[in-house]
Amino acid sequence: MGAQPGEKSPGGALFLLHKAKTGVTDMKILKGNLVSAPALGKLEIVEHGCLVLHDDGSIQSVEKAVPQNADAEVIDYGDSLIMPSFVDMHLHAPQYPMLGMGMDLPLIDWLNTYTFKTEARFEDSDYARRIYKKLASDLITSGTTRVCMFSSLHTDATLILMEELEKAGVTGYVGKVNMDRNGSPELQETTEQSKRETLRWLDACGRFQTVKPILTPRFTPSCTDELMSWLGKLAAERGLYVQSHLSENKGEIAWVKELCPDCVQYWESYDRAGLWKDHTVMAHCVHSDEREREAMREHGVVTAHCAGSNINICSGVAPVRTLLREGNLVTLGSDIAGGALLAMNKVITMSIRASKFRHMQSDGKDEFLTVEEGYYLGSSAGHEYFGGHGGFVPGDYLHAIVVDDSDFTEAAHPLSVRGALRARDLHDAPAQHRLRLVGGEKRRLLMKSRGEGAPLSPILENRKNFWTSY
Ligand code: GUN
Ligand code: FE
Repeated sequence: MGAQPGEKSPGGALFLLHKAKTGVTDMKILKGNLVSAPALGKLEIVEHGCLVLHDDGSIQSVEKAVPQNADAEVIDYGDSLIMPSFVDMHLHAPQYPMLGMGMDLPLIDWLNTYTFKTEARFEDSDYARRIYKKLASDLITSGTTRVCMFSSLHTDATLILMEELEKAGVTGYVGKVNMDRNGSPELQETTEQSKRETLRWLDACGRFQTVKPILTPRFTPSCTDELMSWLGKLAAERGLYVQSHLSENKGEIAWVKELCPDCVQYWESYDRAGLWKDHTVMAHCVHSDEREREAMREHGVVTAHCAGSNINICSGVAPVRTLLREGNLVTLGSDIAGGALLAMNKVITMSIRASKFRHMQSDGKDEFLTVEEGYYLGSSAGHEYFGGHGGFVPGDYLHAIVVDDSDFTEAAHPLSVRGALRARDLHDAPAQHRLRLVGGEKRRLLMKSRGEGAPLSPILENRKNFWTSY
């Protein structure tokens, strides 16, 4: 398999080689209240701790204080929290223009009435450029540095999306969508077109460093058996990962039964095509029963739980506690634009709320998610998917945010670091006003403020120097 996002790239090695030649060191130390979730329900806190960074943007060590004789610039964020960034494991880039709109219909009607029409607009590359530039910028200012994302079926727009993400510093996987049946007149490919365009897209992806392709059959009703099997073979031949949708809505599940009479359950329509495997991401899994959940566990299939979307289009509330209890891999997705919240801190709090609904429905049997658990799922679990770790771990590229709480309402009593995370930093203040991005892989992450040309706070000025010094 080629280099995955999150792995060290040849670029990093080259840079070190250059450093060895010139003898110039450019290490940095970030100081602040370090908070991370190394495992589900666990929080690791180092008050006024230090992240010592290599000049390629990876973590050299985590320290309790500035190491003596450190030959590095120290950037001190005072009492601000420094925490791993967010990971959005399921969203549809071409649905960004319909954010918060058209949520009066269930899944299949919602797709046919609103969604396909919106996605069809991405045949226009100029339009795609405008929307994707904005989306990439909004992601980074919300503190999301890694994504697993659907594009539309359009190859050119998908390449534009990958370009804009990479420029903005958003890393991860993007998929050109495959759909050769049950689309609309303006949004559907023939089987041959779908194959040909997938190969053209993959050929053009070589130029990207931190955004990589992932195979993306939209869902079983959108793809013929022939296309599904072809994609399964391609995934095996080229070592590509796969993303799709599973058991989101009862009408959808009944439809898959009709379309695939030889499959006992929905997941088998992916399995028989060779698409059900390690690192396959399946969005939703709202109605996955014990057997389907077991099949996910056995094959290393990852759930992307999208609580907001599931409520907006009345799909249901996924059994997150059950999935976790049984040992399934669970991550979170905004599912823009079934979901209407791009900022992952809000997606996390929405997931906690949805779990409270199941808690009430089960008379307390299903415990609701704690803030620590929600933060793990919306950050660490995603970083782990990309080969990183849950906490700040030497060797990983830094994916982190600094929370600038200067415009928060003053707390009634001093807050502990844990209290700050629980009470404020993951809750409902607008994310763009609170989250400041400080890191990312391969020195590429750009620092963003509230918009081009907006005045920078002293912290941001510091960071500007930091990142532009690379
Ligand atoms: N299933 C197939 N396509 C979609 C989509 O665009 N959004 C959601 N939520 N489910 C889907
Ligand atoms: Fe989706």
